[in-house]
Amino acid sequence: MVSSSQPHASASQPDGMAAANQRTYRSLSTVLSYRLRSRLQPPERTLLELLRREGLSGWRLLDIGVGGGRTTVHFAPAARQYVGVDYSDRMIRACQRRFPERAASFQVCDVRHMDAFASGSFDVVLFSFNGLDCISPQDRMEALREIRRVLVPGGRFCFSAHNILALDLRILPPQLSWNPLELAGRLYRNIMISRLNGREALDGIHSRPFQVLREPYGVQICYVRPSYQLAQLREAGFSEVRAFGLADGREIPAEEDLDRRRDAWIYYLCR
Ligand SMILES: C[S@@+](CC[C@H](N)C(=O)[O-])C[C@H]1O[C@@H](n2cnc3c(N)ncnc32)[C@H](O)[C@@H]1O
Repeated sequence: MVSSSQPHASASQPDGMAAANQRTYRSLSTVLSYRLRSRLQPPERTLLELLRREGLSGWRLLDIGVGGGRTTVHFAPAARQYVGVDYSDRMIRACQRRFPERAASFQVCDVRHMDAFASGSFDVVLFSFNGLDCISPQDRMEALREIRRVLVPGGRFCFSAHNILALDLRILPPQLSWNPLELAGRLYRNIMISRLNGREALDGIHSRPFQVLREPYGVQICYVRPSYQLAQLREAGFSEVRAFGLADGREIPAEEDLDRRRDAWIYYLCR
């Protein structure tokens, strides 16, 4: 599909990323903002349909980083067995309140250490809405290996990852929206990203395989070059990788170079 590159030695990796992100996802304001969401993104709709056709109704599904249960609404009724985990105990409590009939299906668990689950416990694992990017670059491989371990051989893994090549951090990018709310949001975000992250993090960012950035809403996110993501998946033992575009949810043809895509994030399905 695409050629892979190796990690850039100077890509900055802020200390305490895990602790800072966990703190944000435990905060009341973040939990409240996630607890009522239910709309699927276009590639998630595609993946749900695809998994349904392949046998989801007979499968055990693990939903990692379940947050406020946005994906639970759609994936839980479609699977034979559903387990939702998150390292934020507050998110888990919000899910238990939102879905009292399946409260026992939710548990606190960090994807990097899923000792609670034996190897081969699930047929499919979902880590939606870029949850993997909340993990530091050092721990990302560990998380991928843990996910591989809890899957049965040939089990499916669906997730999304931010595309570093789609970042446009110019204060006034050329393709400005004239919607005043969008315009204000974009201006605020780009100004804040420039202020929160030094030149060392931002200069030449598009030539790096990954870069952690501090975001205005308190989390630190790892942006990844798609070809680097593919290389990581292979290293963790995954194969048959397919990719799906953000805007229309369509599968990206296998022959298309993913590094030419400018989707803000890309959904991946692999086994
Ligand atoms: C961007 S939110 C997405 C929430 C939900 N999946 C959704 O799509 O609405 C990322 C979620 O991943 C969780 N998360 C991040 N790192 C995690 C980790 N190491 N282990 C378990 N959950 C994690 C966060 O607590 C948060 O709920």
